[in-house]
Amino acid sequence: MERRPRIDGHTLLAGVIGWPVAHSRSPLMHNFWLEQRGINGAYVPLPVVPGAFDVAVRGLQAAGFRGVNVTIPHKESAYRIVDRLDRSAQRSGSVNTLVFAPDGRIEGYSTDGDGFVANVEAHGIPVRGGRALLLGAGGAARAIAASLLDRDVDVVVANRTRARADALAAQLAGITVIDWAGADELLPSCRFVVNTTSIGMEGGADATLPLDLSRADTGLVVCDIVYVPRQTALLRQAAERGLRTVDGLGMLIHQAGLGFEKWFGATPDIGPEVEALLDADLHRAHAG
Ligand code: ATR
Repeated sequence: MERRPRIDGHTLLAGVIGWPVAHSRSPLMHNFWLEQRGINGAYVPLPVVPGAFDVAVRGLQAAGFRGVNVTIPHKESAYRIVDRLDRSAQRSGSVNTLVFAPDGRIEGYSTDGDGFVANVEAHGIPVRGGRALLLGAGGAARAIAASLLDRDVDVVVANRTRARADALAAQLAGITVIDWAGADELLPSCRFVVNTTSIGMEGGADATLPLDLSRADTGLVVCDIVYVPRQTALLRQAAERGLRTVDGLGMLIHQAGLGFEKWFGATPDIGPEVEALLDADLHRAHAG
């Protein structure tokens, strides 16, 4: 029988706020780490309807929670509610991790960009310099762009709606914008290509990316932040060409580490065990 965590008066509490939130793998991941580290803590899903975010956050803070992760559709509300914005949050314009500090203040962090970079580096691929082509201009793209710029990567963004890419470039100095249809031409000069759109996601956009990988340099690293399915059409095509690929599951795991450290005071083990756990769970959920 599965061992249940003991909940008592000393249990450290955290969770994830989203709507819907039932699909989130964060509870599985954090509770695995808590048990692995022998920490008296619990991490719960917190379904909060749009409009109720502020009430929920104040309530959780008053109830002694250490903090929360924030996911769709509340990341902008999270950005507004914080008292102290970490640089990562300022740069990415969003917050996915709230920490309720002992002085009563709410601290906001964005861990998506650094989670992305840490995951690529965990694959043995250093992220420093070179050019990255980012497809998409949503919240995830901005966070990733900020982290890549910090590592002296030349960031080029292509988005279906060009105006959105232009807006992103206006917020982050150093980004170049090209047309969606022009993405292909840039491939030979790129070291990384990163899909941050919902193309390739199960139940996501029914479209294809404007990329012909036959033009890519053999050293190109192809990354996707989609993790359902883990092997998207883009990654499959890249692998067939012998290009190195990085899927989105590792980013999900790496972005979670900072929150765990802040709330529970320990560094989680970002190794093959947690990856296997999530991989098995995704397969169970999407089988048949
Ligand atoms: P997130 O915050 O997770 O990045 P988002 O803000 O909804 O999500 O952004 C989704 C991205 O996927 C956008 O870049 C979007 O392009 P638009 O700005 O043109 O909407 C992109 N996207 C979604 N469906 C697409 C499609 N069918 N073709 C091309 N891009 C698509």
